[in-house]
Amino acid sequence: MKNPPSVSVIEVGPRDGFQMETEFIPTDRKIEIVNGLIEAGLRHFEVTSFVSPKAIPQMRDAERVVAGVKRVPGLYLTALVPNPRGAEAAARAGLDAMVVFVSASESHNRANVRRTVSESLEGFKEVARIASEAGTGLRAAIPTSFGCPFEGNVDPVAVGRIIARLRDLGIDSISLGDTTGMATPPVVERLIRHLGEEHPEVELAVHFHNTRGIGLVNAYTALGLGVSKFESSVAGLGGCPFSPGASGNITTEDLVYLFHELGLETGVDLERLIDVAHRAEEVIGRTLPGQVMKSGPRLKRFPLPGGKTQKRLAHPAS
Ligand code: COA
Ligand code: ZN
Repeated sequence: MKNPPSVSVIEVGPRDGFQMETEFIPTDRKIEIVNGLIEAGLRHFEVTSFVSPKAIPQMRDAERVVAGVKRVPGLYLTALVPNPRGAEAAARAGLDAMVVFVSASESHNRANVRRTVSESLEGFKEVARIASEAGTGLRAAIPTSFGCPFEGNVDPVAVGRIIARLRDLGIDSISLGDTTGMATPPVVERLIRHLGEEHPEVELAVHFHNTRGIGLVNAYTALGLGVSKFESSVAGLGGCPFSPGASGNITTEDLVYLFHELGLETGVDLERLIDVAHRAEEVIGRTLPGQVMKSGPRLKRFPLPGGKTQKRLAHPAS
């Protein structure tokens, strides 16, 4: 197993995280979190989605969120689009790329967008035309790539077949979603190896949820297989409203902490990121699952009970 030379962390909390919240989060608070994350050094965001407000009311302010994001050099903003109507709105908003999505399993695709996999893929032709006319990039996400809550195991061959159809549309950057946290290291290895052989030119990202507590283990497994793009949510926000039992994405701070401990560059200031995670918790109004935001990095020093800070105390809490 060989780690890639550098990694990029794609923040999806503003989309995957916020969409799970039933109470509307004020647009200004959403923008504040995204801009805080930009200040912490994150550069690639799935910032919202241009979906039907009847399906996901939380995303009804998509255009205003995009408009409020502070533009800095190197920023790469994307949003999910389900159909040509969403693509038109996304093109007007000014994004670096639109992200089309089609599940690896029929039942999840139907629950999510009320279409067969084939119908979704067919609809993407028009989305691709709109994106190209607007000069906006196009990426794709495949939820349930590692397992489906309705159908169980998903055959890597089925994922490969969808990728072949996406490549016909000119899409070569694809995120493999583990929407309900069904991935395990052997499942990750089987899929990534299969796709590496079948579609070596495709740039793969992975999108793990921590539903069963092994999200970071799966990310570490993917890293060892050469994957360099990882999607995560600040403070561990997240889920999918159309998937039973879905819980948060892997946590951005925990992932960045792991990468830094492995000597990998992320461009992110972990301390500042942790501050934004706390702010996200205040905005959401409940304790969120992130771990490093609560404990701090490994070598964080704590004051001794007597007052003085002990210099070599590495594990004060153990
Ligand atoms: N943006 C805004 N409104 C949209 C829209 C879009 N992209 N697409 C459809 N709508 C509106 C239509 O205008 C229509 O409104 P009306 O009832 O007032 O006329 C309504 O939504 C239904 O439109 P229809 O074309 O019949 O779509 P649908 O009901 O079959 O829904 C989707 C299909 C894909 C649009 C909808 O299921 C959706 O947006 N799902 C989001 C799924 C998602 O984001 N999941 C999380 C990611 S894992
Ligand atoms: Zn997700």
